[in-house]
Amino acid sequence: NGNITFSMIKPTATQNNHTGHIINMITNAGFHVIAIKMLHLSKDQAKAFYGVHEGKEFFERLIDFMSSGPIVAMVLKKENAVEDYRKLMGATDPAKAAEGTIRKLYATSMTMNAVHGSDSDENASLESRFFFSDFEVFKQL
Ligand code: CMP
Repeated sequence: NGNITFSMIKPTATQNNHTGHIINMITNAGFHVIAIKMLHLSKDQAKAFYGVHEGKEFFERLIDFMSSGPIVAMVLKKENAVEDYRKLMGATDPAKAAEGTIRKLYATSMTMNAVHGSDSDENASLESRFFFSDFEVFKQL
């Protein structure tokens, strides 16, 4: 039951072996993983995914970082998934992230901030479709 959000575990967090603990935090918070894959984004793929941020001051840093190593892409399902996952991640700036959040534990800067989560239901579905085809998402779970 519930709706979906799209999440990525970013480079550095994957390379520092935090993938398992981050997924544990996600499932302990009541989310169901209904799609998952690990992959290394090309620069062009990272630019396409983060297209809305093109032109912003941090865009090049973001693209270089997101294409620097493997990421884990996931579709998560839960009641109130988008908002609840943003709470679990904590603030984008790790200095402002609350105790017990994923970013408080694993983010090291604004760019290297461990995880991504969708900011709206509409973007959750767009971002999910960027990574997963229909038959890779287990909606019945
Ligand atoms: P994310 O949730 O993946 O969405 C956009 C990303 O841009 C954000 O997390 C940050 O990692 C990155 N970023 C870097 N600098 C900034 C900034 N000043 N404001 C917002 N996002 C930033």
